Amino acid sequence: MDLFSAGPWSSGVALAHLEGLRAGGPVHRLDDTRFAVLGHREAVQVLTDAKTFTSRFGTGKFHVEVPGRSLNLSDPPHSTSLRRTLSLPSTADRTLARRLLTGLVERGGGDLVTEFAQPLALGTFGAAFELEGEDLARLGALTRGLAQAPDAGSFQRADAVLRSWLAEHRGAPGRFFELGAGLSPGDQQYLQRLLAQTGHESTAMAIVLALEVLIRRDLPFDPSPEAVDELLRFTSPLIRFVREVTTPTRLGDVALDAGARVAVFFPAVNRDPAVFARPDEVDLARRPNPHLAFGAGPHACFGAELARQQLMDTLQAFAAIPRPQLGPCVALSSSVTRGFSSLVMRVRGAGPS
Ligand code: HEM
Repeated sequence: MDLFSAGPWSSGVALAHLEGLRAGGPVHRLDDTRFAVLGHREAVQVLTDAKTFTSRFGTGKFHVEVPGRSLNLSDPPHSTSLRRTLSLPSTADRTLARRLLTGLVERGGGDLVTEFAQPLALGTFGAAFELEGEDLARLGALTRGLAQAPDAGSFQRADAVLRSWLAEHRGAPGRFFELGAGLSPGDQQYLQRLLAQTGHESTAMAIVLALEVLIRRDLPFDPSPEAVDELLRFTSPLIRFVREVTTPTRLGDVALDAGARVAVFFPAVNRDPAVFARPDEVDLARRPNPHLAFGAGPHACFGAELARQQLMDTLQAFAAIPRPQLGPCVALSSSVTRGFSSLVMRVRGAGPS
């Protein structure tokens, strides 16, 4: 099975396959140079030891030309100093989830992806970074196109369009276009691209994944921090990030040569039975919950709190409406992000108060 292609993930067989591999140990050799990390302890080792496991040679799906050294494709201290140039505002629009859901309920339901989760995540991102109207819609469409690119060629083309759009807007007013001011033009553009790519679509997918689990399993919309983290653990919206080994080392019971590439598979790591009791059950009160849905170490997710906030707002809004039902759904076709491209919800009765 090719765990780096979308098919096994969208058809739902990839996780069971990884669970089967776990029987052979926490680290599994996939081919001559690639290894899958399935153990929690080993994942923490990879993500926190940037000297041995570098991000320098890329962490994701397709090769992207990076003009300088970037935040996610470099190691500390360079990545740390770039990260210091970023900040998230402490206030966000906490009413958007309720407003979007009110509209959906008044219409008797609709698509949770396009009519709720995506506008919530993109709207929150826009409010945080002072983007609105046409600019926000265009940036949303461009970065969604990147996230959904089926192959390297379409990814490079979508990336080129995004880059020229950013170049046209260089120096425009607002928090987003000011991100990375003081960096070289190439580094600044890469930072803006990274933020736009990471800042809304994975959150939208986290929201629909969580809603699907709760509605399908008839679980309560519990807006507690424990419930939010358990939903993140159980759904693990981002599938994997890769690191490259710099010097020969051991990981679990496997010897790794320099140049080996290790892929941390978050959905498997977050169900490691050595760390999580009853890992395949959703326990909304689970504590402690040291899941790695946001990664760990120097590259741990920069927007984790913003994403958690939106999940909490979603649960709060859903707790105030009549119990919805699910209609048809279409799984997202991606080897990087789990989620849905469509998830229909039906609901009767009055909207949230
Ligand atoms: C539920 C939604 C999200 C999930 C599951 C998620 C997950 C992750 C993970 C696993 C990483 C680590 C990558 C690595 O180790 O190489 C990461 C990094 C990152 N995330 Fe998120 N993320 C989410 C939402 C967001 C949001 C809302 C933002 C921005 C507003 C954001 C911005 C970033 C950035 C900039 C990085 C790179 C950090 C670095 O390389 O130092 N993410 N995210």
